[in-house]
Amino acid sequence: MRHLEALLDFYLASGVDASLGEDVVDWFQLSEVQAKARQQIATPQAAAQPVAPGQGSSQQVRQMPPQHQSPSQPGSAPAAPVVGAGPRSPTDHGAIPDQAVISMAREQASSTGSLADLRACLEAFDGCNLKRTAKSLVFADGNPDARVMFIGEAPGRDEDLQGKPFVGRSGQLLDRMLKAIGLDRSQVYIANTVPWRPPGNRTPTPQETEICRPFIQRQIELVNPDVVVFLGAASAKTLLGVQDGIRKMRGRWMTYPVAGRQVAALATYHPAYLLRSPLEKRLSWRDFLSVKSKLSELG
Ligand code: URA
Repeated sequence: MRHLEALLDFYLASGVDASLGEDVVDWFQLSEVQAKARQQIATPQAAAQPVAPGQGSSQQVRQMPPQHQSPSQPGSAPAAPVVGAGPRSPTDHGAIPDQAVISMAREQASSTGSLADLRACLEAFDGCNLKRTAKSLVFADGNPDARVMFIGEAPGRDEDLQGKPFVGRSGQLLDRMLKAIGLDRSQVYIANTVPWRPPGNRTPTPQETEICRPFIQRQIELVNPDVVVFLGAASAKTLLGVQDGIRKMRGRWMTYPVAGRQVAALATYHPAYLLRSPLEKRLSWRDFLSVKSKLSELG
């Protein structure tokens, strides 16, 4: 029995805790729902169907140029990677690239008027395959009126179980770092670039990140903080469109455009990296002190 428990512990530690079933699942294959969403956008009948308020028409989505960014969208975001490389299943005709799903995400995210709306929109959104394996939507934690917003990459196992960002070991470290500058979760707002846990904690694919990007952009817009802190390179690269590595990028104040306003933005090491490389905590300490000064400076 102890051997069996030890084996299960080993599996858990290795990240083998995504749902398991009798049938072999090809996780690379797009979900049927996603394929249907693309099909809806592709077929003229779909364009003629009634459209939910504020979601625009399918035709509109189709007419968007591939790299379309609405003017209200913040961030000099990077060009969307090439996604959707041909047919992958009998229901996937390959005619409509995943760009259509990305456009749909943009339309839906920009139509939300509050954080509650945005959460509901994400709960209903079926365009990202990560939702199929995740146990919960990890939307946010903290205070929506906070002056500072922290953004990580994607939830891990503990976050998925609790439905809250940064509650595992890296979250506990983040809490200690916040405390060191006199803050706690009631004074900050915390979210992730991708709100669903990738199976086995793998890195989100560029396509998954692109699909989720409009939602986190809208979330920042709705929180409208004075300062944005990117935890790790992934969120900074996704939202600022910068290509530098975190060593080069961290500690330098940049700006992130939110509804026509240039918001102070800083990238720092991800707490998970600090757990593996504790010597780097001294640099993070500097970054956190810098956040504290920036908040005082901005009054
Ligand atoms: N790492 C992240 O980037 N986000 C979390 O919520 C947890 C770990």
